[in-house]
Amino acid sequence: MTKMDFMRKRVFFLFTMMVMALMVGCVNHDKTTESVVDNSKETNTKHMKTIMIIDGGPRKNFNTASMLQKFAEGASSVSDQIEVKTVRLYDLDYKGCMSCMACKVKGKASNVCKYKDALTPILEEIAQADGLVLGSPIYFGDVTGQMRTFLERLAFPWLSYNDYSLTAPKRMPVVLVETMNGTPERNNSNGYGSMEHCIAGALGEPERLIAYNTYQVKDYSRYELAGFSEEAKRRYRDEHWEEDLQRAFEAGKRMAEGIMAL
Ligand SMILES: Cc1cc2nc3c(=O)[nH]c(=O)nc-3n(C[C@H](O)[C@H](O)[C@H](O)COP(=O)(O)O)c2cc1C
Repeated sequence: MTKMDFMRKRVFFLFTMMVMALMVGCVNHDKTTESVVDNSKETNTKHMKTIMIIDGGPRKNFNTASMLQKFAEGASSVSDQIEVKTVRLYDLDYKGCMSCMACKVKGKASNVCKYKDALTPILEEIAQADGLVLGSPIYFGDVTGQMRTFLERLAFPWLSYNDYSLTAPKRMPVVLVETMNGTPERNNSNGYGSMEHCIAGALGEPERLIAYNTYQVKDYSRYELAGFSEEAKRRYRDEHWEEDLQRAFEAGKRMAEGIMAL
């Protein structure tokens, strides 16, 4: 073999290797593109809808938490495209409205609170959610301090001081849950108070779901609670509690069905 032949063979070999490398690259590239398309197809068909449940009560397994749990079960029973997220306010370290006015700065106004603490990601999720549920025991005629504090942060950015309109990033169905000692005939509940007006204006007219005359403790004989007749409480509970939980389940189902029908 002459030196020239050897060089020719070498160039041919290198050229063949380059072509093969390019072909392998193309095949791999196609595979990557394919998997990206597949993923996006999956995301498109899934298209999850989110219901945010905000539990404003301190007790994890009592009345308010049970009503909210049933609501979540009802909502989840409708479709696996419904995602229910429950946030327990008493687990979070956060402040009420700090009056920083960051949400009202000219040219940078925002209808989601800009103050940064543990509530920030929750408020951002609510802004994008498809449904909202708030739950609270009634304390001294109102929702708990934690719920009220949360509501200040949720609602102040909705309020325009230019024209007093109320605008949330997105309108959505809302259910307000209350549990209390009071009865339908005798109760001191102011419910969500002035915040109900803000919620109605910014998100939509809320549905109220109330469990009356709840059991405050499991065993009345252990506590100084002579003002209550345990017997009367038990009778009321036997007649109404399962029904209350069922109403919560149905409300969850209704909200999820409404969201899926949109
Ligand atoms: C600090 C405190 C204040 C309360 N104030 C009221 C009240 O004003 N009216 C009422 O009907 N019940 C009142 N209750 C009773 C609770 O609202 C009721 O037991 C509720 O179902 C408790 O919810 P939970 O079981 O989820 O904690 C109060 C309870 C506590 C601990």
